[in-house]
Amino acid sequence: MSYQLLRGKRGIIFGALNADSIAWKVAEKAAEEGAVFTLTNTTVAMRLGDTSKLADTLGCPVIEADATNTEDLHNLFTRSMEALGGKIDFILHSIGMSPNVRKGRHYSDLDYGMLSKTLDISAVSFHKVLQTARKLDAMNEWGSVVALSYVAAQRTFYGYNDMADAKALLESIARSFGYIYGRERRVRINTVSQSPTVTKAGSGVKGFDRLLDFSERMSPLGNATGDECADYCITLFSDLTRKVTMQNLFHDGGFSSMGMSLRALQQYEKGMDSPFDDLKSQADDHIFD
Ligand SMILES: NC(=O)c1ccc[n+]([C@@H]2O[C@H](COP(=O)([O-])OP(=O)(O)OC[C@H]3O[C@@H](n4cnc5c(N)ncnc54)[C@H](O)[C@@H]3O)[C@@H](O)[C@H]2O)c1
Repeated sequence: MSYQLLRGKRGIIFGALNADSIAWKVAEKAAEEGAVFTLTNTTVAMRLGDTSKLADTLGCPVIEADATNTEDLHNLFTRSMEALGGKIDFILHSIGMSPNVRKGRHYSDLDYGMLSKTLDISAVSFHKVLQTARKLDAMNEWGSVVALSYVAAQRTFYGYNDMADAKALLESIARSFGYIYGRERRVRINTVSQSPTVTKAGSGVKGFDRLLDFSERMSPLGNATGDECADYCITLFSDLTRKVTMQNLFHDGGFSSMGMSLRALQQYEKGMDSPFDDLKSQADDHIFD
């Protein structure tokens, strides 16, 4: 159902690679809600992925840009404003990549050149996007910028590797720039910390299937899907959330507030010769736990 929450708004959406991408779902919903926007991705992603197909379907311009390259970003903002007919109201930064994860490097044996790339692509690019937008005065007042994060910024998750450091930096940039851009132009900047979601970037994380299952069992509302994440992003781009800024907003079915759930304990117990009380009988008394 459409509420036309973004009617009259102009945006830029980074990171729609294929139909699984969170950015893809945000683009579809932003169009449904009445926004006009440009899609952007790297040259390689445009060649290997489906970004142009989505642009054709939605009838929106697509502009190539490497988000680590400030010249590309300058060109992206300038051309987006021309194509859309004015300043930008919302930006989605949905970008993540770690060469260390890709190459299977252990966190205690990182390649530092690759670490720099992880941080540049997955976090510093967010600063570059914001700095470019500010220098070009490309955002309308009360604009909204959202980047996607993960709870590994706060807690340690096996296999998340140097992406955890990138996400911590990303969230910090949202706070630091949120202060400046909020004071000057009333632009709000937030990160959404999303449940594990089956996408190209997500599936690269070691033990991803098990992580998905664990967090599903731990979250009282279950994992949040990519579509649900897109719905949440739309509310953050809308005028209904104008005083929300500098926040890391958990969109994870309650996972981040949990310590241990009965469902996770039961699964854990299956894998061991349990010396503990029978959890099955406890579950009968607490069917919603
Ligand atoms: N999938 C998950 O489990 C999950 C959970 C929480 C947060 N996130 C975050 O969501 C965001 C989107 O990831 P996704 O899961 O939709 O995966 P995805 O692989 O579909 O999207 C990642 C995107 O980043 C783009 N990208 C990589 N390098 C870039 C660069 N230099 N410049 C511009 N774009 C670049 C890729 O082309 C791709 O479109 C990422 O920040 C990711 O860390 C994902």
